Amino acid sequence: MFNSISSQASKLINLTKRRSIKESKTKLLTITSGKGGVGKSTFTANMAYLLSKRGYKVVVIDADIGLANMQVLFNMRPALTLFDYIEGHAKLDEVLLQTPYENITLVAGKSGFQYSNHSNSFVFSRIVEDILNLNKFDIVLIDTGAGLNEYVKEFLQISDHILAITTTDPSALTDVYALMKMLSKDKNQLKICFNHTKNYKIGQTITNSLESLAKNNRLNPEFMIEYIGNVSTSHNISTTGRLRKLFSNEFKNDTVTKELEIVINALLKTLY
Ligand SMILES: Nc1ncnc2c1ncn2[C@@H]1O[C@H](COP(=O)(O)OP(=O)(O)O)[C@@H](O)[C@H]1O
Ligand SMILES: [Mg+2]
Repeated sequence: MFNSISSQASKLINLTKRRSIKESKTKLLTITSGKGGVGKSTFTANMAYLLSKRGYKVVVIDADIGLANMQVLFNMRPALTLFDYIEGHAKLDEVLLQTPYENITLVAGKSGFQYSNHSNSFVFSRIVEDILNLNKFDIVLIDTGAGLNEYVKEFLQISDHILAITTTDPSALTDVYALMKMLSKDKNQLKICFNHTKNYKIGQTITNSLESLAKNNRLNPEFMIEYIGNVSTSHNISTTGRLRKLFSNEFKNDTVTKELEIVINALLKTLY
């Protein structure tokens, strides 16, 4: 899967991963999708909010170099980003930014950062490791960009918990299957959540089909997909996003907030 990663580097990162997880109470969840525009950032920000309301201390890392928009959703204009830490211009606590929401910390991203395969391998995962080693947060959510580039793969490599956001659109599902194929080589599990999907059961049915496809194509039989829920299409979601607000805070009793609460319940069951 990770052709470009030398086996030595791979071993090194596995060692670091084990060390971090053993010592840290902090859970790590990477949110991804093959396709762009399916709702990853919207979900990440609103999941962070609902988790914070349940008392969890959450860090959100904006790891989308194509379109870093987490600061927009949290209505912030950060002076320092993830890259200031990586390039050695800022200390960790300087890039851990308090959002306007209690118990949510943001590590902001930057659009258009040039990722070099040669010099930067594994530097991005280092910030994650450093945050885990602080041992003061409960959950780190990483919002990745679209596509399975080396940069996204680096975050997937260090995560035990990965959540794919998808729609029922065939092209989005094709991308999810490509993700499954890749992850099944060295992960045991992928969580899946459907956006723009009104019916809970449809998500479950499609998940079952993906599972059958995996079986028929002889993907690693240990690899499981776990369906954690669905969120409908709502005008309130797109509007709040544009207004730099969180729908789960603005519309606490809306169907979509309730749907996301169900997703959070299922997610917490898999994390703890
Ligand atoms: N369930 C939904 N209903 C309506 N609009 C949505 C929904 N989910 C996401 N959106 C909108 O779709 C756009 C893309 O969402 P975004 O979270 O930025 O996707 P991604 O991070 O996957 O690229 C945003 O304008 C967002 O407000
Ligand atoms: Mg996004």
